[in-house]
Amino acid sequence: MQTIRTLGALRAATAAWRKAGERIALVPTMGALHDGHMTLVREARRLADRVIVSIFVNPMQFGPNEDLDAYPRREAADAALLVAESVDLLWAPDAAVMYPQGHASRISVAGLDAPLCGAARPGHFDGVSTVVAKLFNQTAPDLALFGEKDWQQLAIIRRMALDLDFDLDIVGVPTVREADGLALSSRNAYLTAEERAAASALPRTMAQAATAISGGESVAAALDTARQALLAAGFASVDYLELRDADSLAALDSPCDTARLFVAARLGKARLIDNIPLN
Ligand code: PAJ
Repeated sequence: MQTIRTLGALRAATAAWRKAGERIALVPTMGALHDGHMTLVREARRLADRVIVSIFVNPMQFGPNEDLDAYPRREAADAALLVAESVDLLWAPDAAVMYPQGHASRISVAGLDAPLCGAARPGHFDGVSTVVAKLFNQTAPDLALFGEKDWQQLAIIRRMALDLDFDLDIVGVPTVREADGLALSSRNAYLTAEERAAASALPRTMAQAATAISGGESVAAALDTARQALLAAGFASVDYLELRDADSLAALDSPCDTARLFVAARLGKARLIDNIPLN
């Protein structure tokens, strides 16, 4: 595996692959890789001839009071995991390469970025869209893979790729979970042992609410019960717990085929997010 940090070297490596007619997959990440990320990497390996993984902790998508400095960084261990999955290229630019002096452009996907995580994290999705558009231009992949765990992010990137005529396929990969249902996340590392045990209430409560709504209980009542259950389990607060359309992210007050439950809740130092289909 080559580790590349400059645009010139990246373009030279990928130009040779493209000339040979090889299909290139990109898996964008912020590192601290876990089995969720590695599932995307294995799927990329299956779908493409060449696999590029990017690791870049993107300052533009962190708010002023968020965890940019605390975000886990362990590139050497990450690189070893990627070598074991036969990844061809690790693209690991530093911030001065990604955002040279004077960088002033931003991409905004209006509407889809307003609800859910967009409401609590103003500017976050502009940061995501901007860096992902740059990663697409830098690596020019045939396909790029994203996790359903970050459903709103996936919806925004699909929209952006369509709107800006990126000539690539966006592949969504189902959420990878621990045995107790908790979605794998780099931020789970912020949980103490006690908080980690309490965190299993998140997927359990979501599943119960989905079953209740599918079974005919009113959406408002089911979500209220779920909110109380999360607080009782030790969550400090619930940022949102909502039923929305999977594609448009429009709020729903009754179930339908495309309905999905979305949650963000705070536990200790972590803000955990998850989403599941109703059925
Ligand atoms: P990061 O949080 O490192 O996640 C990288 C990719 O892994 C994302 O597509 C995310 O949805 C996916 N992922 C994380 N946990 C997962 C899980 N448990 N199951 C399935 N997929 C999972 O998301 C980002 O980085 C950044 O916003 C990025 C897109 C790289 C832009 O900076």
